[in-house]
Amino acid sequence: MNNFSNDVKNNLEQAYGWFRHLHQNPELSFQEHETTKFIIDKLKKLENIEILTPTETGCIGVLKGKLDGPVIGLRADIDALPIFEETDIDYKSLNNGVMHACGHDAHTSVLLTVATVLNGYADQLQGTVKFIFQPAEELPPGGAIDLVKSGALDDVQYFFGAHLMPNMPTGTVALKPGLMFYSSDKFEITIQGKGGHAAIPNLAVDPVIIQAEMILAFQTIVSRKTNPIYSPTISTTVVKTAEGPANVIPDTVRLAGSVRNLNAEVRQETAEWIKKVANGVCDLHGATCKVRYTFGYDTVINDDIPYGMSLKAAQNILNEKAIIVMKDPIPASEDFGSYRKIAPSTYFLYGGANEEKQTNITPHHPKYKADEESFYYGAMMFLSIVEETLMKK
Ligand code: NI
Repeated sequence: MNNFSNDVKNNLEQAYGWFRHLHQNPELSFQEHETTKFIIDKLKKLENIEILTPTETGCIGVLKGKLDGPVIGLRADIDALPIFEETDIDYKSLNNGVMHACGHDAHTSVLLTVATVLNGYADQLQGTVKFIFQPAEELPPGGAIDLVKSGALDDVQYFFGAHLMPNMPTGTVALKPGLMFYSSDKFEITIQGKGGHAAIPNLAVDPVIIQAEMILAFQTIVSRKTNPIYSPTISTTVVKTAEGPANVIPDTVRLAGSVRNLNAEVRQETAEWIKKVANGVCDLHGATCKVRYTFGYDTVINDDIPYGMSLKAAQNILNEKAIIVMKDPIPASEDFGSYRKIAPSTYFLYGGANEEKQTNITPHHPKYKADEESFYYGAMMFLSIVEETLMKK
């Protein structure tokens, strides 16, 4: 038998302390050196946990149970964002221009709490838990892929990840079978025309007109070139021309944008069409262009078996009203999909919205705040998953 609920409650003050320290000392993606030291320092105090450091930042804690059984991976991301914090909290970022604005400080504190609690249950565990403190979730290509390539997680049979969400009330958990997050790619295009006088455009090759046609033509990839069931989202977000007087046609225009997909095949097609359309429009007008298409994060798909385990885990600790089974995927992205290259995985959300405390502000906003009361539910979900997967009689 376990006493997880009391164990977590007894460790909450410590978790809040860790969270506040991490919040005050945020580090950017791939630069989480002090954060990693902090995590290792806490894990070292847990006598049953072995520490692996297969990547430059981030680490893995390994807790082997007394009995044989499956290996599961529980993942937290640890990096912060290049944002100037504008909250009113007294543990504001001390690293100017860097902020934990996506709750990864909360994720880290929650997973450290889970490790702390489980350390006391090694003799009851039928299998192994790997606590994955992953760097660089915020910056493609992301930190997950290096951990996957390192081999340190090759024996994991199921991966579980989670995110604190400011748009769901504290105390709720959301799950979804199948597709959870879209894939995310980007394109960068330089159109090379020929500048000239605005009054005699026939002697120039105007990249501004070409750019306008190109941006609109990209939308026909969505509406006419790809399967409407799996329509991609194409957003041209950067349009840059030379800073010049209004009567000069510039030589070049630079475009950049973001592409989201929910289907792997359509994702490939979209990439090819972007290149084809860009080159075709330029060709038509006698211009040339350079297209750079970068594949970013894969979709996050929640596999049936671990999804079922997480749903059962939620039902074991929450009443029905607090469990949200989502119908639609979220058109955002996450590098958690990388772990699926090794084994089936699932991702769940736990709520942190509290209007009074203003913890209902969207992530990546300078006024974003995490609700500490949500930590209990995040930790309990992970522990309930462990109970479901490694502590069955
Ligand atoms: Ni995040």
